[in-house]
Formats: sequence, C-alpha cells, structure tokens
Amino acid sequence: MTIRTVTTTPFDDQKPGTSGLRKAVPTFQKPHYLENFIQSIFDSLDGCEGQTLVVGGDGRYYNRQAIQVILKMAAANNIGRILVGCGGIFSTPAASAVIRKYNAFGGIILSASHNPGGPNGDFGVKYNVSNGGPAPEKVTNAIYECTKTINEYKILDAADINLDRPGSFKLGTMDVEVIDSVTPYVELMQQLFDFDKIKSMVSSDNFRMCMDSLHAVTGPYARALFEQYLGAKEGTVQNGTPLEDFGGGHPDPNLVYAHDLVDIMFGDNAPDFGAASDGDGDRNMILGKNFFVTPSDSLAVLTANATLVPGYEGGIAGVARSMPTSAAADRVAAKLGIDCYETPTGWKFFGNLLDAGKATLCGEESFGTGSNHIREKDGLWAVLFWLNILAVKGESVEKIVRDHWQEYGRNFYSRHDYEEVESGPANELMNRLRSMVGDMKGKTYGNYEVAYSDDFAYTDPVDGSVSEKQGIRIGFTDGSRIVFRLSGTGTKGATLRVYLESYEPDGSKHDVDTQEALSSLIELAEEIAQIKKFTGRDKPTVIT
Ligand code: G6P
Ligand code: ZN
Repeated sequence: MTIRTVTTTPFDDQKPGTSGLRKAVPTFQKPHYLENFIQSIFDSLDGCEGQTLVVGGDGRYYNRQAIQVILKMAAANNIGRILVGCGGIFSTPAASAVIRKYNAFGGIILSASHNPGGPNGDFGVKYNVSNGGPAPEKVTNAIYECTKTINEYKILDAADINLDRPGSFKLGTMDVEVIDSVTPYVELMQQLFDFDKIKSMVSSDNFRMCMDSLHAVTGPYARALFEQYLGAKEGTVQNGTPLEDFGGGHPDPNLVYAHDLVDIMFGDNAPDFGAASDGDGDRNMILGKNFFVTPSDSLAVLTANATLVPGYEGGIAGVARSMPTSAAADRVAAKLGIDCYETPTGWKFFGNLLDAGKATLCGEESFGTGSNHIREKDGLWAVLFWLNILAVKGESVEKIVRDHWQEYGRNFYSRHDYEEVESGPANELMNRLRSMVGDMKGKTYGNYEVAYSDDFAYTDPVDGSVSEKQGIRIGFTDGSRIVFRLSGTGTKGATLRVYLESYEPDGSKHDVDTQEALSSLIELAEEIAQIKKFTGRDKPTVIT
C-alpha cells in the first residue's frame, strides 16, 4: 500500500457555514473537491497524528464513497485510529456520544442535516472537536484558510474497507474499527432516562405514539429504543428504513415536511404522542394529539420539568437558547433562579457554556434541543425526555403545555421562511435593516414602540470571543419582537427568515391561533423590511 501525493488547486467556495461545508452532491463529486476539504481539515489540526478520530454520516447519497476516501486520506495523514459506524452510519448525536465515550481527538461527520439527499440533493462535511461538538469558529476559519492555499493532498492506495459489519482492520499503519452505530447511543440514553417508567406507559394499552424517522438516520435508533427497549408495538416507528434520498422527501421535522405524521396527529383517532427527527437525527418535532409544541415552548417545558428526569434530577445549572428562539425559557429560568444565555444561531455556540457547566439544557427554534450529555442537539433524546415527563405526570402533551402557559404566560411564536430567493436583493434587504437599526429606538409603528434594535453581537462568556452580525433584532415595549436573518445552511440562493414573537400573560387569551395572534407583527415586518420589494414574494414558503 503506497501513499500517493496528488497535486490539486484550491476551490474558492469551501468556507464552512453554520454547520460545516454543505453543498450539492455534484459539487462534492467534482474531482478533488472532497479531498481538498478533508486534507484542509488534517492540515489545520495540530497534533492529530497518531490520534483517534470518529467518522460516520447520516447515510445519504455519497456517504459510502466519501467515507472510503476519508479513511484512506486519514491513513495517509498518519491518523492513529478511526472508529467508524457500521455501514458508515452515525446519527450526529451518536457521533458526538462516541467521540466523548472514546476520548477521541475529534470526528468527521458527513451530513447535510435536514436538506434533501440523493444524486441532486445535498451533502456535507463537518468537523467536530474532542468535546464532541461542532468545531468553533477559530477551527473552521483555520480549515478555510487551508482550503485557499492547498496544492496537494495525500491518500493511501488501498482497497475499500468492508463497513457492513463490526470488525477491526488495518489501512497502512492506521487501525480501523467498525463499531455498532446504535448501541453506544442507546446505552447513554439508558443512563439519563427512566426506561422502566417510560416502558410501562409506552407498552400499555392506554398510550399510543408515533415516531416518524422520515426515511433518515434515526430509523434503526428509534426502532431499538421504542420498539425493542420500551415495548412500543411494531410499526410505532414509521418511515424507519433509512434511504439514500430519504424517499425523495425533505427530512426536516416541521409541520410542512413531516406531513405524514402531521396528518396522523391531527387526524381522527390521533395517538397521544408524535415525534419526528431530521436527516441526521439531531432535530426533533414534538406533537400531542391535535397539538403542536413549538421548539421554543419545548425547551421551556423541559427546563421547568427537568428534575422529573433521572439524568437531571439534581437540577440544572442554566439554560441557553439561540437569539431567535422565543423567550419562553427565560421566564422559566427566572423563576428557577438560574442563568439563561442568549447565543447566536448555531449549536456550536452552546459548546463553551456546556463545557464550563454554565448551561445544562439548550435549545433552538430550529427544532433543536439538547443537553450536556453530548455536544450536539439530539432529536431522540428530546423525544425520550418528553416521554419521561409524560410518564411521570400522567397528563397529555396539550395539558402540560397549557398548564405551562398558565403559569408563565404564553410566548406566541412563528417563523416565516422565504426560501431560495435571490442572494443579491436578500443581502440588500439585510444591509438596509442594518443601516436602520441604529436609530429606531423610541420610534412608533401603530401601537408598537421600539424598545431596542440592533444587529445581534455575542461575546462568549467563557473565551471572550466575539461574533457579530448575527441577525437584526427589533424589540418592542410590549415584549414582542421581530428578528430578521439569512439562513446559514441553505445551498441555493438565500433564505430569509423572519421570526415573530409576542407575549401574552393573560391565560384567557391563550387559545388564539398563532398566526392570528401575530398578524399585526407580521404586517409590521413587511412594512419595516419591505420583504415583497426585495424578494419578489408576497408570502413565505414555509411557516413553522
Ligand atoms: C443547523 C444548526 C443549528 C441552527 C440551524 C440554523 O441545524 O445545527 O444549530 O440553528 O442550522 O439554520 P439556518 O438555516 O437558520 O442558518
Ligand atoms: Zn440535523
């Protein structure tokens, strides 16, 4: 087996985004494209020689081919050992758990998360560091710098490794261990949740649940957890066979894309509990019978009820949410007397808070929830957390959420997405807002008076790093808020996200439809940002 050094030239589009390098599959299939990025990862990592790395992906199209390339390049770059999931598969949370369990130096996760897959879908590569979490910006910037000057990469000439069953192999001098993708994750969940209690609820005749894996990576994990360990009846997990193109669907657990589940949960004879997860298993959506739990409310409810769950029964140190996430969790934190942190969008910003023990639970409006058990958000963890709460309280999802609103008030919340609009005008829209926010304070729009407005900047309380231009916030004196930002995860054009929130303390007004409750803010968002003028759209493509 010889190491080949291949001459290459840089690509100018390899800057990692919110969640690693994410591009259409045909882009990754360009000669040297994947190799350049992987070599840039190795070149930017100090001291990775001889170390253990974890590699796996969500099983989407190109996962298998990419894994073989990465293994051979790792061997040529003197990595000591690679732990790879069976079939090249790890859900993102499972990869994070395995990095931590084996004290690995880091991991390479192949996924484009909730983006569609298949030959014309998306693919992605993300580097995670030794705490199991996404690389911080100083690491991704270093990788990016390497992509700009790369002129060669190294790869071992060797046959492909059989990844389809556990086993140990050698690639040159590097050890390759193909390990079970599911077991380490299930074991971690057993440490956190009361499986006996959940089992007696889930396996009883009085409780029905439905888990939709959207033909993505969580199928085998969900079947093991719910159907094998927790005694739910066979078929509880639907769309549970992972497919390379996710069955042509969009593996994003929201009310629009998880329509099979939504039809069931809002249909006649709906089950008591429904959940879905995304392409790589880190997102979640929680539904009750005819009832949708917003991710922001979900974080607040988990925070308020954390001590009912064994893994958190000693109480939680703090809670963190991304800036566009509603302030529902802030109210719980205030009552519990714990800190609440507001971070920029992107799970990586929670890493330092979790490592430093400042936060225990974290959540984002983008259907992400998680805790200090790993350093990624974790879809099935959230499902188990909810099941554990339901099993202890013996109440419905809807009752738990409504009681929560009674106690803390309700944060009406919705996100309006304008997908795949032209990048130029979308940037103009943002730049225009940026130029306006400086002197909006005190300005009135109808009944609304601006209490503050800015382009959100975050100073990490642990390492002092500063992240600027994280989204336009316009807060009003009545506690309502509009946030504008451009998505950092899309691969076509730009996606404008408009986040709308209002606060209603009066329990008699909690039954209003969300879009109706937010209608005047929705109009105001149009008035302030001139969305129609810049995007050409008179309504959003997705409302969640
Ligand atoms: C990924 C990240 C999340 C983040 C989301 C935002 O899922 O892991 O932490 O909230 O992207 O995506 P956006 O498209 O809004 O930038
Ligand atoms: Zn994801």
